[in-house]
Amino acid sequence: MGIHALLAYRVLFAFSLATQPPLRYFRPTMTKPKIGILISGRGSNMVALLDAIGEGRLEAEAALVISNIETAAGLERATERGVETLFINHKGRLREEHDREMAQELKRRGVALVCLAGYMRLVSPLFVREFKNRILNIHPSLLPAFPGLDAQRQALEYGVKVTGCTVHIVDEELDHGPIVLQQPVEVRDDDTVETLSARILKQEHRIYAEAVGRVLSKGFRVEGRRTFFE
Ligand code: GRF
Repeated sequence: MGIHALLAYRVLFAFSLATQPPLRYFRPTMTKPKIGILISGRGSNMVALLDAIGEGRLEAEAALVISNIETAAGLERATERGVETLFINHKGRLREEHDREMAQELKRRGVALVCLAGYMRLVSPLFVREFKNRILNIHPSLLPAFPGLDAQRQALEYGVKVTGCTVHIVDEELDHGPIVLQQPVEVRDDDTVETLSARILKQEHRIYAEAVGRVLSKGFRVEGRRTFFE
């Protein structure tokens, strides 16, 4: 190679280096686990989950919100946040039939975890089987105390000094499956059902997103009634 050719080659080489796009770290595109949320009413726990996702505190994608009540305020709140919603009426149908339709819609969208958020119906054994250990519920008491309706009123009437909220895995029995996370809330002397419920609800919103994150994480496991998170 002559001296001119060598110089030209060097100039070209230096130029090609200078015009290279900057090196970027390779970032694999990770698909986030999809969650589905079942509601029957105002959906404040659903909003807490959607906000946690929106703010990057919860690595998940909200694929679908289903309500069994057409007028549930939560449906509009989900739509406002750009999440697909479905109303699936349970009236006049067998529980299994209704649940089978919900399971089909959730599975069609690749939902990995179902979160009950004020869903005011028992789910059928069929639904529990379809999403084994993959259904969560939030309940406004420290389970196993005060299962069922009006947990905050039950706590006040019983006279406990501490109550709280629980996120648990849903099994065939009401408010019964393995516990994922709990948060105690003090009962004050001047509490009414409303004031106590409001303080518990604030904690519900906080622990639900945290519990969903735990269950979706790699190290989560269930052994009998106990759950573990690494
Ligand atoms: C919450 O208190 C939840 O613990 C219970 O039902 C209520 C639903 O409230 N399961 P929201 O619809 O999430 O506002």
